[in-house]
Amino acid sequence: TRIPYRTLSGTSRLAGVMGWPVSHSKSPRLHGYWLAKYGIDGSYMPLPVEPENFQAALISLRNLGFSGVNVTVPQKEMAMPECDELSDRARRIGAVNTVTFSKDGRLWGDNTDGFGFIENLRQEAANIDFTSGPAVVLGAGGASRAVLVALLDEGSPEIRIANRTRKRAEDLAKEFNDPRLKVVDWPLDPKSLSDVALVVNTTSLGMVGQPKLEINLDGLPKSALVTDIVYAPLITDLLAQAKARGNPVVDGLGMLLHQARPGFHRWFGIDPEVTQELRDFVLSPD
Ligand code: ATR
Repeated sequence: TRIPYRTLSGTSRLAGVMGWPVSHSKSPRLHGYWLAKYGIDGSYMPLPVEPENFQAALISLRNLGFSGVNVTVPQKEMAMPECDELSDRARRIGAVNTVTFSKDGRLWGDNTDGFGFIENLRQEAANIDFTSGPAVVLGAGGASRAVLVALLDEGSPEIRIANRTRKRAEDLAKEFNDPRLKVVDWPLDPKSLSDVALVVNTTSLGMVGQPKLEINLDGLPKSALVTDIVYAPLITDLLAQAKARGNPVVDGLGMLLHQARPGFHRWFGIDPEVTQELRDFVLSPD
């Protein structure tokens, strides 16, 4: 008999995303697209897990034979102590978004957010050179940590962090202990933009339902790339403003798509491609 949908077997590879809530997550749609595209015998499912059950659920997934899971807020920090081993970048970022269960039952934690950030810019802004000039990073939360670690690793010559709560930016600079990190005023003084090659918004400002990001881009070189980790809306006010004055811009959707690649590669064996068709598919309603 013909079965109208793909069924799973005992050898199917299983993965998913744990979070609370998790219904908004685009990851099942994203991984599902790649599984179908590459004809992989596997499944990737949303796993709503209340924070109090996080540890038990993680161990259960390992015991059920899962290949691995992504974890989202608020469980990215909770996953750290549960892992037997952490990647260097996960340790520095201080959060885990990708857990892989090894054959001997060990949990390996990684954080691929910074990778996703860099890969998105490499794909969307050909010839980007992270060493070409200073970067300005707005925000000092979890997303900022991933972006900062990635930019430091890419050889950025100087990174200016601006955050509403200055203390948080200062604590970050102190913790990372790298002379290339400088804390600058919030709101941004246009003077700190005059020699900048890259501007990144890592705050939630500009997201649907959040206040708008107020920023004066006068003085920013026209060659500077402006990017936002917010992807709803796809073109934030920041990107619209930058685009209108002639700067190259890259939206935040690609970061989400690229950060998923290392997990998919480890669990399902293929480093998947990020294409325009995938972008459209992830954004389209079911
Ligand atoms: P995430 O993990 O997504 O980075 P977070 O750790 O809560 O989330 O960080 C949110 C960031 O957005 C912070 O930099 C925050 O600034 P504060 O450290 O001052 O809180 C910034 N942010 C959120 N709402 C803001 C607002 N209305 N004005 C200015 N910055 C804001």
